[in-house]
Amino acid sequence: MKIKNICCIGAGYVGGPTMAVIAQKCPEINVTVVDINEKRIAAWNDKDVENIPIYEPGLSKVVDEARGRNLFFSADVDKAIDQAEMIFISVNTPTKAYGMGKGMAADLKFIELCARQIARVSTSDKIVIEKSTLPVRTAEALKNILENTGNGVNYQILSNPEFLAEGTAVEDLMDPDRVLIGGDIDTEKGKEAVEALVNVYAHWVPKERILTTNVWSSELSKLTANAFLAQRVSSINAMSELCEKTGADVNEVAKAVGMDSRIGSKFLKSSVGFGGSCFQKDILNLVYIAKSFGLNEVADYWEQVIIMNDHQKRRFAANIVRTLFNTVAGKKIGFLGWAFKKDTNDTRESAAIYVADYLLNEQAEIVVYDPKVKEEQINADLDYLNTRSEKENRQRIKAVNDPYQVSKEAHAVAILTEWDEFKELDRKRIYDEMLKPAFLFDGRNILHQSSQKAIGFKTYIIGENCDLL
Ligand SMILES: NC(=O)c1ccc[n+]([C@@H]2O[C@H](COP(=O)([O-])OP(=O)(O)OC[C@H]3O[C@@H](n4cnc5c(N)ncnc54)[C@H](O)[C@@H]3O)[C@@H](O)[C@H]2O)c1
Repeated sequence: MKIKNICCIGAGYVGGPTMAVIAQKCPEINVTVVDINEKRIAAWNDKDVENIPIYEPGLSKVVDEARGRNLFFSADVDKAIDQAEMIFISVNTPTKAYGMGKGMAADLKFIELCARQIARVSTSDKIVIEKSTLPVRTAEALKNILENTGNGVNYQILSNPEFLAEGTAVEDLMDPDRVLIGGDIDTEKGKEAVEALVNVYAHWVPKERILTTNVWSSELSKLTANAFLAQRVSSINAMSELCEKTGADVNEVAKAVGMDSRIGSKFLKSSVGFGGSCFQKDILNLVYIAKSFGLNEVADYWEQVIIMNDHQKRRFAANIVRTLFNTVAGKKIGFLGWAFKKDTNDTRESAAIYVADYLLNEQAEIVVYDPKVKEEQINADLDYLNTRSEKENRQRIKAVNDPYQVSKEAHAVAILTEWDEFKELDRKRIYDEMLKPAFLFDGRNILHQSSQKAIGFKTYIIGENCDLL
């Protein structure tokens, strides 16, 4: 089966970069990315490619090459569905905020809407691909909707979860560890659909890295991968607290442990806690699925990863209050970073939000510098928590465009994101501008205790035995 037109529903952090790379690598295929968010589509079409809505190193260059040639961004969802032989569903699947499964299960309402729209619009056979991260056996529900409400059109449903990491999305898409495709490999039509998608990726991914499985394994593998990754972060973070009490240094422990080839060195950096739109929601979803099968021990095991992460964020914030003589009321605290990690403008579930919320409850005044996050986003993140009025959030937290402004007359500065540029800042200048004693809290483990001490800072670094407590 030759694919000439691809449609992707959802122009977000996954849909945008993934389709840009497919378009760049497959110039003979027209790729149209659609979204109901017209503002987002307009930003993807901005004449100045630096203004596209998602910041990822190298992405604007890829978009610049393919946009208008065979990569299109549009709000006309029906038209793109109708024209495509292959449709990726890449819409958001957040944690449910209401009703059954509230706070745990994935909210599949956007997925269902897509399925119903595809069924309504389609007049020719389609391969429908789950690109969003979904609970295991979602393809069954999709099939049910498509086959029972469609116009007699034949649908093949594939699972093709995305493993890119924000901050390195383009690199990950260009050179993936593996591409996973789940399909109905027991039928001829199913095999043909899998083959068609394999052929798209085979334009640039070596065949031995394209893995085909049954649909359920593919769906569950994505949840499993995120659970394992997050578990490593919580594991090293649990050890970071023990290091602080015992005089061990978490970096040294991580290095020693990571050199064991059975363990490996990646994802062993302790921090104020993981964030991002995926880890928490996917683990909560896994916990919910396990519970729904009565697998309580399995559910409790994975839930502990989230409990540890929440603890890490809370203890970082509480430590700031305790160190600042048990009160931060009316005190200026400077934040370096707001994004959930470096090299992205994504702030979803960022640890900074929860640390700020804790400190605002303690009446602190917060000033934030992040090279890619605007004040509007910071306010939206805090408003979403609904802890206090929007007016109060705006009075008590401000964003600045210059990193040195966060330290001006600040009682403390906290590093919440590991942006490379923070390592290059003039620490002496920061120290000079702060009130004394000048407290520095490193939530990303990017500083060295000894060099801060020499300047005069009182420093707390996650996972190090510090002189403050
Ligand atoms: N962000 C990541 O790093 C990442 C990595 C791997 C997998 N995922 C998964 O990919 C999926 C998408 O994540 P994201 O980060 O790109 O989300 P996102 O919120 O950035 O983008 C989703 C987009 O879908 C659009 N949308 C929702 N319903 C729609 C509809 N009915 N029609 C048209 N557009 C619609 C929204 O307007 C939004 O722009 C999620 O399931 C997520 O778990 C994300």
